Amino acid sequence: MKSNGSCRICNGTLIETFDFGRQPLSDSFPADDTVAGEFFFRLAVGICTDCTMVQLTEEVPRERMFHEDYPYHSSGSVRMQQHFVDTAKQLVNEDLADSDGLFVEIGSNDGVLLKTIKSAGVRHLGIEPSVGVAELSRAAGCRVWTEFFDEELAERIVKSEGKATVVFSANTICHIPYLTSVLNGMRTLLEPGGVFVFEDPYFGDIIEKRSFDQIYDEHYFLFTARSVQEAASRHGLELVNVEPQAVHGGEVRYSLSLQGTRAVSPSVDEMLETEKAHGLGELDTLQTLGRGIDEICGALVKLLSNLKKDGRKVVAYGATAKSATLLNYAGIDRELIHSVYDSTPAKIGRLMPGTHIPIVDSAGFRDSDADIALLLAWNHAEEITSMEREFRQRGGKWVVYQPEVNFL
Ligand code: SAH
Ligand code: TYD
Ligand code: ZN
Repeated sequence: MKSNGSCRICNGTLIETFDFGRQPLSDSFPADDTVAGEFFFRLAVGICTDCTMVQLTEEVPRERMFHEDYPYHSSGSVRMQQHFVDTAKQLVNEDLADSDGLFVEIGSNDGVLLKTIKSAGVRHLGIEPSVGVAELSRAAGCRVWTEFFDEELAERIVKSEGKATVVFSANTICHIPYLTSVLNGMRTLLEPGGVFVFEDPYFGDIIEKRSFDQIYDEHYFLFTARSVQEAASRHGLELVNVEPQAVHGGEVRYSLSLQGTRAVSPSVDEMLETEKAHGLGELDTLQTLGRGIDEICGALVKLLSNLKKDGRKVVAYGATAKSATLLNYAGIDRELIHSVYDSTPAKIGRLMPGTHIPIVDSAGFRDSDADIALLLAWNHAEEITSMEREFRQRGGKWVVYQPEVNFL
């Protein structure tokens, strides 16, 4: 345990609790001829003893992660498509109803949510720095600026488009180390009575499910209601609602508004109480997770080694960003896993970051001779195992690794 400087939010003492060592970028899949130039950084997580924000202790420059070839496409999961269509409709019918207000989305990716907002005839603007995915959303007719959102951009949006009635963001705010600039920007961008709604992986779920692989370069912050409330209040914003979401292994949707402009829902105090009861703001909780990480990785390596000794063919399913943490920390490479099946065109034919396991098209999974499949995309377990039901029917077995290593 060591103190590693100060908290990004409050300048308080940041205590580092777990060091994953040298890790590659999680969403960077090298080709055979680019392996030599792979970028590595030290992945470590800690907690602020003052405001309780859980955060990485080292930062990767944003342009290294989000660029023209950013391979994550939000529309890759049918379930997530539905989640965002439902979310867009709810926003249109509630916060955007009876207004010709502006809708801004931060991290709009391939337009998975923005398309529905656009179809409803709402004035909208997406902010998406990764050119490749931004182009896909423009092709679907959405208005998108290829920029990083921060304080300065908020001012430019207001000058050009006016203030926003709703700002939405999914799986993006936790990616932004300069959160203080984002929150300052929000104060500029929101109209009085407007709302900033964002959802990200919830630290409470990470602790409960021991889903430590949610810790990787892009997930700079692991939020709780308590840490979000504190960060918001430092920037003239107020946490007015919280709503758990059953996606990506457990998220929370937070609503912030300008201080004193909206009623605070009882859900906020309820979640704060639960977090206190579960010790989410305590150093101890993160240290216990650390011991769990070593236990899980040890058990998984043992299982995979035994399966290999028994002559079973082991593959993995889902070239997820989060699996970079698991595979690289546990030292699981081509010796233990033959290949990783995935449906993303930009990943097929490439190699897994750091471990260099080849990625192959998931269309070939049902005809493969694999005996065992490690489910790296565990957050899509239902969607994947039902789509690939023949695998089980012919005797194949799925392996999961949290809260502990097990056959599914
Ligand atoms: N909202 C989508 C995409 C999440 S991936 C979903 O939930 O599926 C995160 C996205 O945020 C990427 O497309 C990345 O390019 C974008 N991003 C990263 N930093 C950003 C910033 N400062 N402002 C706006 N978008 C950002
Ligand atoms: P995901 O778990 O959404 O996120 P992250 O990369 O942030 O950890 O990634 C899911 C991966 O699994 C993505 O590469 C697409 C792949 N996938 C399939 O190959 N088939 C499927 O049916 C689904 C749902 C996902
Ligand atoms: Zn702090």
